[in-house]
Amino acid sequence: MTTCAEPVMPPSLRGKKILFGVCGSIAAFKAAGWVHALTKEGAEVTVLMTAAATRFVTPLTFAALSGRPAHTNMFADGMSHIALPAAADAVLIAPATAQTLARLAHGMADDLLSASVLACAAPVLLCPAMNSKMLAHPATQKNLAALREFGYAIAEPECGLLACGEEGAGRLAEWNSVRELLLGLLTAQDMAGQQVLITAGPTREPLDPARFLSNRSSGKMGYALARTAKRRGAAITLVSGPTALEPPPGVTLVRVETALEMAEAVSRHAQAASIVVKAAAVADFRAAAFSAQKIKKTTAEPLLELAVNPDILATLGRSRRDDQLLIGFAAESGNHEAEGKRKLLAKKADLIVVNDILGSSTGFDVDTNQVTLITLDSVEQLDLLSKEETADRIWDKALLLLANKRRRHGTEPV
Ligand code: PMT
Repeated sequence: MTTCAEPVMPPSLRGKKILFGVCGSIAAFKAAGWVHALTKEGAEVTVLMTAAATRFVTPLTFAALSGRPAHTNMFADGMSHIALPAAADAVLIAPATAQTLARLAHGMADDLLSASVLACAAPVLLCPAMNSKMLAHPATQKNLAALREFGYAIAEPECGLLACGEEGAGRLAEWNSVRELLLGLLTAQDMAGQQVLITAGPTREPLDPARFLSNRSSGKMGYALARTAKRRGAAITLVSGPTALEPPPGVTLVRVETALEMAEAVSRHAQAASIVVKAAAVADFRAAAFSAQKIKKTTAEPLLELAVNPDILATLGRSRRDDQLLIGFAAESGNHEAEGKRKLLAKKADLIVVNDILGSSTGFDVDTNQVTLITLDSVEQLDLLSKEETADRIWDKALLLLANKRRRHGTEPV
């Protein structure tokens, strides 16, 4: 069992070779920020610009931000339309204009960017941005359908106020969701086909219109589980208590407030899940009676009568299918292994992830965690890791347990 002092960096795009295509749209200025973000994260970004793109932002801007020359001319440096894509781990085109989508959909190779995409075996992510009528036109829609059929990923354009002054669909997607899609393209899809139900965050148990009982959970651990499983190809339902976090793109989010609401949402979605992970910090108690009026301050000692909330994990443990994997968390301040084992048995889970809630860099509301993975026949203590890295280690273990389960039940796919 080892513990490292420094947490490792979250899974990132460090060292990835990204061929970044920029087309002629006002949104090209946003591409400059994305190139900067990728480069800061340690990716090796090579920018290819269409002729129209150079009318909006200069190649010098992209060269300065990426630390590499920005390429604009198919005939300038020999076989660059073959050499550049051959070295790429992924191609990202943002903004992808109607013109470039049409070129790519028809396999044209009349500029450096389209020729490079045609010559590229790496995954391609297109980020369309244009006027909403151009986007809605059957020609563009047909081109997008063809590009999806080629296997290209599309970062769906968002709705909002467009540069032309119109409101509608066509805005360039936000960087956070594009980064997630890019990470997904660069990650082995070993969770494809898994339906994963995750709970995250605290629950809030109202006392009166102004007050509630809750706990210090930020939702970071549960959201990290959702993001990483999504990147690995799983379909995610995230039942979340109140948090300040941005929901991971592409997951089905079910917002709840109280433990009773969480119990209801979990029971609604559990049947379809192959893996259930209860990372939420569910309040064990709620007020026995909600006061519709704000409880007044009195001179007498106030007494708060509590009712016990249902134990959602234990309920699942009693009713879950044999082929389903059930993972619980345990927030502990001592006796980690013994408490983890007790909860594993009491709640009939396959795996309990114990985290220390007393450490300054573990447990509640921090970006790192140090956990012990406890099953019926193993105890494995992980290093201090980022919550995303911890989540990935939990998924590695989950896939192993699922494979063992299937082997035991003779349901392993042939
Ligand atoms: O959200 P963060 O700030 O990132 O913090 C992460 C975390 C510390 C909240 C998380 O890693 C964690 O430990 N979550 C579980 C916290 C908890 O409720 O532990 P517990 O030991 O009280 O519960 C054990 C298990 O039973 C948990 O899976 C819990 O979800 C479940 N439970 C508990 C009570 C209840 N009424 N219903 C439940 O399902």
